[in-house]
Amino acid sequence: MTPQDLMKQEVGKAAAARVQSNSIVGLGTGSTTAFAIEFIGKRLADGEITNVKGIPTSFQATVLAKQYGIPLTTLDEADRIDIAIDGADEVDPNKNLIKGGGAAHTQEKVVDALANQFIVVVDNTKIVDKLGSTFLVPVEVIPMAVTPVMRAIEKLGGKPQLRMGVKKAGPVVTDQGNLVVDVKFDSIDNPADLEKTLNNIPGVLENGLFVGVADLILVGEVQGDKVIIK
Ligand code: A5P
Repeated sequence: MTPQDLMKQEVGKAAAARVQSNSIVGLGTGSTTAFAIEFIGKRLADGEITNVKGIPTSFQATVLAKQYGIPLTTLDEADRIDIAIDGADEVDPNKNLIKGGGAAHTQEKVVDALANQFIVVVDNTKIVDKLGSTFLVPVEVIPMAVTPVMRAIEKLGGKPQLRMGVKKAGPVVTDQGNLVVDVKFDSIDNPADLEKTLNNIPGVLENGLFVGVADLILVGEVQGDKVIIK
């Protein structure tokens, strides 16, 4: 395991340790949350916690929850989400995030924003002074609107690019059947305004700026020969 994977594993474990019996848990997407899902499943299997139900944020989270034996529920059935655990691509000093590296930010925002407590799990490479410094802002767009949305984003000063598949010919398609446009902004001075402005463009479903949603950031960091959680 690489040092970064080790940080992801330990921070996922630390978040999973916060899940209590009789709770409904939002299950995020990505490689860090995958460790949290694994450890929630282990705690359930060991009888350490009981009566936990998950609400997944993606196809990936659904598959992992089933693999690790976490019973699932839906937003139609559940009357609350007690805790959501999810990763991020960037975290700023105000706990604002960029998410959507896995193209799952639309469902993630619904679940994470509904949770009574939203815990973000990241390794220390994700911490930035300013959002947009290392990562582009993902924007989910309905397919027929992709060209006008990209033009509108250019007028806002952004540089949009259609996300293409890595092991797939053609563009990435989200769990909702939409496309993702990744946008480079030279400087994101007001993430709250930009989040709203992007979502106001007709054809945009949701963007990956998460402003004022996170309650707690758990950061894994290598110190000497071990990983500490800050
Ligand atoms: C999924 O769309 C994303 O929001 C992920 O939560 C984010 O990309 C973090 O993923 P990793 O934990 O794999 O870095």
